[in-house]
This record gives sequence, structure tokens and C-alpha cells, in this order.
Amino acid sequence: MNVYDGQRIAAMLESHGLTQTEDISDADLIILNTCAVREKATNKVYSALGRIRCAKKESALFGIVGCVARESGADAFKRIPELNFVLGPQSYHKLPEIIKDPDTKLLNIDLGGLEKFDELPQITKSPTVAYIPIQEGCNHCCTYCIVPYTRGRELSRPYKDVINDVKNAANTGAIEICFLGQNVNGYKYTDENNKLYRLSDLIRETAKCPEIQRIRFTSSYPTEMTDDLIEMFGTEPKLLPFLNMPIQSGSPRILKLMNRPDDLNGYKNIVKKLKAVRPDIQISSDFIVGFPDENDSDFEETLNIAKEIKYINSYSFKYSPRPHTAAALMKNQISEQIKSVRLQKLDSQLNENQREFNTSCIGQEMLCLCEGPDKTGHHLLFRTPYMQQCIVAKPDYEISPLQKIKITDANKASLRGEIIK
Ligand code: 5AD
Ligand code: SF4
Repeated sequence: MNVYDGQRIAAMLESHGLTQTEDISDADLIILNTCAVREKATNKVYSALGRIRCAKKESALFGIVGCVARESGADAFKRIPELNFVLGPQSYHKLPEIIKDPDTKLLNIDLGGLEKFDELPQITKSPTVAYIPIQEGCNHCCTYCIVPYTRGRELSRPYKDVINDVKNAANTGAIEICFLGQNVNGYKYTDENNKLYRLSDLIRETAKCPEIQRIRFTSSYPTEMTDDLIEMFGTEPKLLPFLNMPIQSGSPRILKLMNRPDDLNGYKNIVKKLKAVRPDIQISSDFIVGFPDENDSDFEETLNIAKEIKYINSYSFKYSPRPHTAAALMKNQISEQIKSVRLQKLDSQLNENQREFNTSCIGQEMLCLCEGPDKTGHHLLFRTPYMQQCIVAKPDYEISPLQKIKITDANKASLRGEIIK
């Protein structure tokens, strides 16, 4: 989401005549787009702000946008008095106004809805993978999560606007569409004729674009995997056989404390249904270890579920207490030391899953998307349908971005392959 927001901010400022520089000391305007999901991310923002403050030109306008801006509010000006603006994740369309005034001091952290999408210029050249937000905010109040506070209640973008973005991306170079949302499969939009549109409708319509060859979406909430969406995996070959559906923990007791769906059989049933319609589907998850009151046997259950579902490509985090969240006030917070040990154990299980899956790919042929050359320039980096990185010797002829690749070797981190002519 932040990568997308950054691209739109850049496009918006370019349409106002600004150009990008790599050199902070040369910049007239510096914007830090920020994430507040874990404390570490917030700390990084403040250390980066300190560095930028020293490196920038005195006259440069300087500010933060995104979730740390919303969380810090006026406090950000107290901590870094040189800041000119502090804009929440739904206010960055105000930037053109701000840059006209060299003495500006603007705080806007309101949850303004989706108007930012209307005020931003259309992208004229799309990358091969186009990220398209379809909803913002979240109505699920997981007790550890700051997102409902920073991004607000769930709002779905109008169906027609999303399809316009898809067509625009397809006409300007996109081959893959990735639909984005904090709760992407909760997408619900009712038009003026009372017709309800879901994510499955967006996928079906997107698949009709001949230029678009691959479709995916992230991040999904387990109990919103409705049958219409599950069926899409069986009927729409452009939808990649890979789904990020975070479980967070394998312990029903901890899931209850997290205010997450705690019916493990329900979760497993969704995976079963997905495999029934798309036998080659793989699932990825996000995990949190060291949630308040998590004991050794709760953690064992997390290890067990990671092994049982054979998650690939997953993300794991130590629980980080966040302001405005219920879990931060819970008793029995877990020590950093225990969190670190558990994270290491979980990571080694997730790595083993990944290595096993990568090895099972050797000998297979997969349609992969080229991301460009590696650092040496001798290889091309591709993404498989499962988002694995695949390294291929650079051919001495022009290739199209989507190539059939035969997988020849694998380790935990990546695959090696050959282009099939
Ligand atoms: N501590 C640790 N991880 C968190 N996440 C969200 N909030 C927290 C927190 N307070 C993780 C969840 C979520 C991902 C985006 O970030 O795993 O799925
Ligand atoms: Fe946060 Fe995701 Fe839970 Fe929403 S569903 S509150 S974004 S972790």
C-alpha cells in the first residue's frame, strides 16, 4: 500500500512540474511516507527524520505523510520543529496546496474518506505489476493492530473507478494486477442501481483485459473468503494459485485474545475448499509471536499449524505493543527474550517449508514475470506464480516479460531456471 501511495504522490507532484532527485541535499521538497504497524517502523521514521534534518537544504520543505503522521499528530512538530507538514494517510492529496507556501505548517490527520483517489492524476506509464487499491481501512478490530485507528473504518472504492484503473494500467504497460486493501476480500460496493459488487466481480472483469495475464490480491481475512471468491480460483486461470491469508497464531486461546477468528477447523476448511478447486494452490500467512499471555503450548500450536498448512512465503513478527490498541494494555506481556527465541523457532519452520516447496518445483515449467536484470547484469530476475524469485541467465535476444521457465535448481531463498523457447 505504501509503495502504491509513494508512486501516486510522485505522479501527482510531477504533474505540478516537480522532478525527482536521488540527492537529499539537492531536494526542494522532502516527504517521508511512513508505516506505524510496529514500533520499530515508527522509530525508524524518527531516526530518518533526524538524518534528513541535517542533510537537507535550509529552504527545503520537509514533512511526513502516512500512518506515523496520523499517530503522532501535533507531537511530530514538537519532536522535529523543522517539519512543515504532517499529513495522515487520507490527506496526501493536499500536497500541491502545501508546496505553494514556503512557510507552511500544516497538520491534517483527518480520516477524510476516499477523496484522495479522485484528486490524484492517472498514471500514464504503468509498471508491469500494477498495484490497485480497492478498499482502505479495516472494520476488524484485532486487539494488537493500529490500522483501524490510522486508516479508519473500511471504505470500498466504486467498482467503475477500480475497473477504470485496471484498464488504464493495462493500456499503459501492466501485465499483472495486484488488488490491495487492508481487508481486500471484504470489498463491497453497492452502485446507484443497488447492485452489489465483490472482489470476485473485479477479478472476473479484470480477466477480460487481454493485456492482463496475472491477477492476485492481498491481504485476506479468513472469514471473508466467501464461496464466490473461492470459486474464482477454479474458474479463472489468470488468478494466481497463491493466496496470502494470515492466521497470526495457531492457538484458539490467543486468537480469541487477538479478537481474530478462533475456529481452526473453519480456517482449515477454507484451505480444503481452495485445494478442491485449485489443487496447486499454496497459502502464505502472517504470524505474530509473543502476544500477551502466549505460553509455550500456545506457541507450539502456532508451530504445528505452520507445519500442517505448509505455508510458503510467510511473514513473522514479534508482537509490538501499539498506542490506541487493547492488547498494549493487557496483562502478561511477554519478554523480548522469549519473543526472540519463539521468532527464531517459527522462522526455522517457515524456512523449512519454503525450502521443501522450492525443491518440489525443480523440473516444473512455470509462466514467470520478468522483473529486470540482477545487480551483475548477467541474469534476469523473474517472479513465479507463487512469488518465488527465479534467476535466469540473460539471453542475448529480446524477450517478452512473461516467459515459460523450466526450474532447474532451488534453495531456501530462490530458484534457478532456463527460458523455454
Ligand atoms: N505487532 C506485531 N505485528 C503486527 N502486525 C500488525 N500489528 C502488529 C503488532 N502490533 C502484523 C500482522 C499483520 C501484518 C501486516 O503486521 O501480522 O498481518
Ligand atoms: Fe489490522 Fe488486519 Fe486485523 Fe484489520 S484484519 S485490524 S488490518 S490485522
